[in-house]
Amino acid sequence: MLLASQVFSLTALLWAVIPFVGASNQPRGFKKPLTPSVDPFYTPDDGWELTPPGTILKSRRVAIASIVQGVPTALESAHQLLYRTTNGRGLPNYAMNTVLIPYGAQLDLLASYHVGYDSPNNDCSPSYGIQLGASTNSSETLIELVVGMLPYLKKGIPLSVPDYLQRTAAFMVGQSAAYAVLDSLRAVRNSKNITGISEDAITTIHGYSQGALAALYAGLYRRSYAPDVRIDGAALGGMPTNISEVFYAVEKTISAGLAAASLMGIAHVYPELRAYIDKHLLPKYRPLYEITQQECIADFYKPVYGYAVHLIGQNVSTWFDNGRAIISDNIELFNFVGVPGLLGKPDFPMFIWRGTDDEVAVGIEEHDALVQRYCDEGLAIEYLRVHKTLHTPTIPFGLPGAHDFAARVFKGKPPTKCTTNDLWP
Ligand SMILES: *[C@@H]1O[C@H](CO)[C@@H](O)[C@H](O)[C@H]1NC(C)=O
Ligand SMILES: *[C@@H]1O[C@H](CO)[C@@H](O)[C@H](O)[C@H]1NC(C)=O
Ligand SMILES: *[C@@H]1O[C@H](CO)[C@@H](O)[C@H](O)[C@H]1NC(C)=O
Ligand SMILES: *[C@@H]1O[C@H](CO)[C@@H](O)[C@H](O)[C@H]1NC(C)=O
Repeated sequence: MLLASQVFSLTALLWAVIPFVGASNQPRGFKKPLTPSVDPFYTPDDGWELTPPGTILKSRRVAIASIVQGVPTALESAHQLLYRTTNGRGLPNYAMNTVLIPYGAQLDLLASYHVGYDSPNNDCSPSYGIQLGASTNSSETLIELVVGMLPYLKKGIPLSVPDYLQRTAAFMVGQSAAYAVLDSLRAVRNSKNITGISEDAITTIHGYSQGALAALYAGLYRRSYAPDVRIDGAALGGMPTNISEVFYAVEKTISAGLAAASLMGIAHVYPELRAYIDKHLLPKYRPLYEITQQECIADFYKPVYGYAVHLIGQNVSTWFDNGRAIISDNIELFNFVGVPGLLGKPDFPMFIWRGTDDEVAVGIEEHDALVQRYCDEGLAIEYLRVHKTLHTPTIPFGLPGAHDFAARVFKGKPPTKCTTNDLWP
């Protein structure tokens, strides 16, 4: 009896804390989801290459997980759209998008939410980790569902959650992310008879870290790649301004795995980098390098799992027979895929937040300078600098501002000038 009542009060507590968890409008015939590499829904039918980017190749209903294992998030409906896109080298590719429709949805609004899943393995994509019954090995998505996505859903904002690294898991390739985000928005625009979302929905985009790079690159490529796509504003946090600097910054730290995973992800798109790595990687380090695609970044329910955990303290340059030449020899490629400041400017207002002591996305001066340049070029940016704060701890300080910014864009009242706020937590 005692046990039963304890279980009851625990359940009551969880329901109080997470009011969005509960009975949901589930698709019928629920089965435990398969990982993308074995789920046939992730492969399009023949002829997909010939369709225009943004074409919906397949669609289905899914049930969405919550932070409580086995319990769904309550939603009006959730859909997955397999859609045609373009990879970082301009070749046809495809990706999965998950669309969440809350109860009482305002179907003339849309937020594109970019999870920082940091993985060169497509099985770690948000479209898998967000499904009810999926393994928690892609639990980054669940954490972001709770802290980042639920505040939108509670306000009735439909969400589009693309696997923006595409099926080739092009971790750190800005162009792949840009095209995937832009085509996911086209797919949503083509989905009115599936999702109900209006074709001309006011659209904001949101992301932290790699998710922020995806959002910014989408802005940088919108006019050339997808001028038909509407983006009304962006909320970006913890954004790296130069990925080569990230490689150096994470050497021998708890984030060292990110450097190895980035190399793996970029090599998935650019065969010249793959060949370079195959030539210079010392054989005894190959097993460590491969961990980046054998395991997702981390599992918040299982502390000994994840490439981040296994590669803590590594100096990835020492894995190569020529050390840091892995970076300098490939600097043009890394500048191309991971220095947004080299590529024009976006054309929408933004809320940008950043920890001044970010140890992963290093270089607050360069970041300040990029924001200043955009302001000088006429963009309206609300900039929040969170002082003396590291990468992950900065996330919660910016989320309220990010959600508030989106709410104002949705009301047709985006910021019209640049402002800077300094927060000393
Ligand atoms: C939605 O409309 C498209 C094009 O008009 C059609 O091909 C597709 O089958 C429709 N999908 C559903 C689920 O009705
Ligand atoms: C990015 O950082 C690397 C390493 O410091 C540097 O060599 C490179 O020139 C930087 N790229 C740009 C475009 O400034
Ligand atoms: C994640 O877990 C699923 C289910 O246990 C497993 O099939 C899959 O291989 C795992 N993926 C990775 C990348 O660890
Ligand atoms: C990492 O290794 C390179 C040589 O491969 C070395 O130059 C660098 O100082 C090392 N980094 C740290 C933090 O020890």
